Amino acid sequence: TRTQVKISVNGQPQELEVDNRTSLLDALRDHLHLTGTKKGCDHGQCGACTVHVNGRRINACLSLAVMHDGDQVTTIEGLGQPGAMHPMQRAFVEHDGYQCGYCTSGQIMSAVAMLHEQWGSADADIREAMSGNICRCGAYQNILAAIKQVRQ
Ligand code: FES
Repeated sequence: TRTQVKISVNGQPQELEVDNRTSLLDALRDHLHLTGTKKGCDHGQCGACTVHVNGRRINACLSLAVMHDGDQVTTIEGLGQPGAMHPMQRAFVEHDGYQCGYCTSGQIMSAVAMLHEQWGSADADIREAMSGNICRCGAYQNILAAIKQVRQ
């Protein structure tokens, strides 16, 4: 069965016709060609697919596109302003908060969402808040430094 879904993605209204089994992640990547959101595990373990829905972070691989009719979705492509990175993106560059870069968009989307959540400011709190985002290269020290720069 296919369903029409109307969603706003990065401020642009979009109308999609998707198979009901299509994840939000696949709808973003395959239907809208927004490939900045990555597929690591496709079952909620790695955080590479993190996007914002109505301002809150979710794993886009765990959510069906048809569940998001009327929602506002933000992906890494919509985070900064044209020609200007979001402060979190800039901090990741300045602190080398990545190695291969595959997890980076998910890390950044999580880190930005975390700024609006209730977390303590200790390193352990930030690590806990970011524990859903795995970096196989192990760039955690620099990711932490980037987030701390933006949070202060
Ligand atoms: Fe969604 Fe890994 S691809 S959590």
